[in-house]
Amino acid sequence: MTPVKITVTGAAGNIAYSLLWRLAAGDVFGDDTPIDLRLLEIPDAVGKTEGVAMELQDSAFPLLRSITVTDRPEEAFDGANAAFLVGAKPRGKGEERADLLANNGKIFAPQGKAINDHAADDVRVLVVGNPANTNALIAQQSAPDVPADRFTALMRLDHNRALSQLAAKLDVPTTAFEDVVVWGNHSATQFPDLTFATVNGDKVIDRIDRDWYVNEFIPRVAKRGSEIIEVRGSSSAASAASAAIDHMRDWVQGTDQWVSAAIVSDGSYGIDEGLVAGLPTVARDGKWEIVQGLELNDFQRERIAANVEELKAERDAVADLLR
Ligand code: NAD
Ligand code: LMR
Repeated sequence: MTPVKITVTGAAGNIAYSLLWRLAAGDVFGDDTPIDLRLLEIPDAVGKTEGVAMELQDSAFPLLRSITVTDRPEEAFDGANAAFLVGAKPRGKGEERADLLANNGKIFAPQGKAINDHAADDVRVLVVGNPANTNALIAQQSAPDVPADRFTALMRLDHNRALSQLAAKLDVPTTAFEDVVVWGNHSATQFPDLTFATVNGDKVIDRIDRDWYVNEFIPRVAKRGSEIIEVRGSSSAASAASAAIDHMRDWVQGTDQWVSAAIVSDGSYGIDEGLVAGLPTVARDGKWEIVQGLELNDFQRERIAANVEELKAERDAVADLLR
């Protein structure tokens, strides 16, 4: 079988140090698909990345056929079937993710262009580097020849956080829940929405009180990234890598369960067409599909609208990087 080419940027960083091992183990493409890894870093971090590559080699993964370390985007994305755009600065204590936009945004235009010019026709891109939604928009806009639906950003960490908070609250496994969604931006404005959620077939909102939902659950999930930074001293890494694997695996292998993915909006649910926003999705035949036909109440509409405003403001702030 022809190996699948997977590009990971920021390959010397913290997230990559978890992500690469899961990829090499076959957790996205399955245990019958060999893998070529392409590791992209900035010149100063190429040496460290060589060390990461040595450790990957020492892990003797049966599926791992080759590892390329480079600081050249055109080499890293050449023939790429899947790309994890992780390389970007993380925020520190007291910062919001949008504070990173001025510096991190610049990374994603040249990478989008390199994807446009060099990646495989079936390339799938997942942006993890923050602020992920708007960075994904920048990359997508820099790749006019690639279908827009191949560019996505990570909301799955927020989705997983929502599931785990619920599981703890109701003392059931995370698998008991269906139809949870996190709408909007991967920021403190995001809307973890339990309106449609069920637990073992019962409505979740009938099992929790509204005060807990609105005043504890939503802010806890939305601000979990900051909480991790406060407690751990640096931003989430292994959980982000695990969520990135979940996202790409479901995209490639499909899922009928609702999951949250930030995809290019088609205008559904009052989210302006073209914005990269978290939506309720399923994955079928290798594509994300928005769950359509949901009736939204005023509370949901208000929370989603706040995200749209924020995403538009971020888009305006990087207008010089957009086509
Ligand atoms: P890190 O600082 O440990 O690693 C980032 C790496 O990216 C560094 O090695 C750096 O040299 C590299 N890099 C910088 N510019 C690059 C470029 N142009 N090309 C290739 N590599 C480049 O950071 P981390 O903890 O791995 O986090 C990476 C990013 O992911 C941060 O922006 C962080 O905020 C974000 N993040 C997002 C989520 C999410 O859910 N979307 C979750 C956690 C972290
Ligand atoms: C997270 O949600 O953990 C990441 O986006 C890191 C951060 O800055 O919060």
